[in-house]
Amino acid sequence: MARRKKIYEGKAKILYEGPEPGTLVQYFKDDATAFNAEKKATIEGKGVLNNRLSEFFMTGLGQIGVPTHFIRRLNMREQLVRACEIIPLEVIVRNYAAGSISERLGIEEGTQLPRPIVEYCYKDDSLGDPLVTEEHIAAFGWASQQDMDDMVSLAIRVNDFLSGVMLAVGIRLIDFKIEIGRVYDGDFMRLIVADEISPDSCRLWDIATGQKLDKDVFRRDLGSLTDAYSEVARRLGVLPKTPLSKPTLIN
Ligand code: TMP
Repeated sequence: MARRKKIYEGKAKILYEGPEPGTLVQYFKDDATAFNAEKKATIEGKGVLNNRLSEFFMTGLGQIGVPTHFIRRLNMREQLVRACEIIPLEVIVRNYAAGSISERLGIEEGTQLPRPIVEYCYKDDSLGDPLVTEEHIAAFGWASQQDMDDMVSLAIRVNDFLSGVMLAVGIRLIDFKIEIGRVYDGDFMRLIVADEISPDSCRLWDIATGQKLDKDVFRRDLGSLTDAYSEVARRLGVLPKTPLSKPTLIN
C-alpha cells in the first residue's frame, strides 16, 4: 500500500494529504507540550478526546453559520478538513484574566474583564509566539485590515458560541486561542476557523469548584489531563455518562 504524504507535523497534530484535492487529514497525537515545548509528555487518550471535542465544537459552529475547516471525522484520531492557507497568527479571546495577561498586566487570575479582549500572537516557535499589534500585522503584511476586522468578528462569534455551550454544562470559558485560514472560492477569498478547538487551546474552569479542566492541568502539574478532558467530553455528551478509567467513545 502506498504511504500517504505527510504535509506538516506540529506539536500535537499531523496533517496528511487528503483523499481529494483541497482536503487534508488531520491526525491528533497524544503528545502534549507547554512553554514552547520546553515541557513535553505523551498523554494516553488525549488525541482521541481532542479529535472528538474539536469535531463537536466545529460542527456546532458550522450549524450557527461560522465557517470552519471541518468536513467530517474519519476515525478515532483523524478528521477530514478543508485545506487552507493558515494566517500566521494566534487569535486569543479572553473573558477572564489568566495566564500571560495576568502576568503581563498584574491582574489576578479569574478576574472578569470589562469586555472580551482579543489579542494576536505571531506564530513563530523560535520567538515563543510573541504578542503583536494590528500595526505589526499590517506593516509586515501578515493580514490586511479587512482580514483583521473579519478575524475579530469570527473570534467574537466563536467566543459567544463556546461561552454558551460551556456555561450550559457548568464550565466557565476563561479564554481560548483559534487559528484562521484563507480559502479561495473562485475569485473570492474568505476566512475560516481552522486548526482545532479543544481543551489544549482553551482555559475551562468548573463554575462550582473552580477546578481547571484544560491544558493548565499539564502546564502546572495539577493532576491527570486525561481525566480533565474526559470530564469536559462527558459533560458535553461526547463520552458516556459513567466514569471511565480510559476514554471509551460512543458513536
Ligand atoms: P496565554 O495566557 O498563555 O497567553 O494563553 C491564552 C490562551 O491561548 C489559553 O487558552 C491557551 C491558548 N494558547 C494556545 O492554545 N497555544 C499557545 O501557544 C498559547 C501561548 C496559548
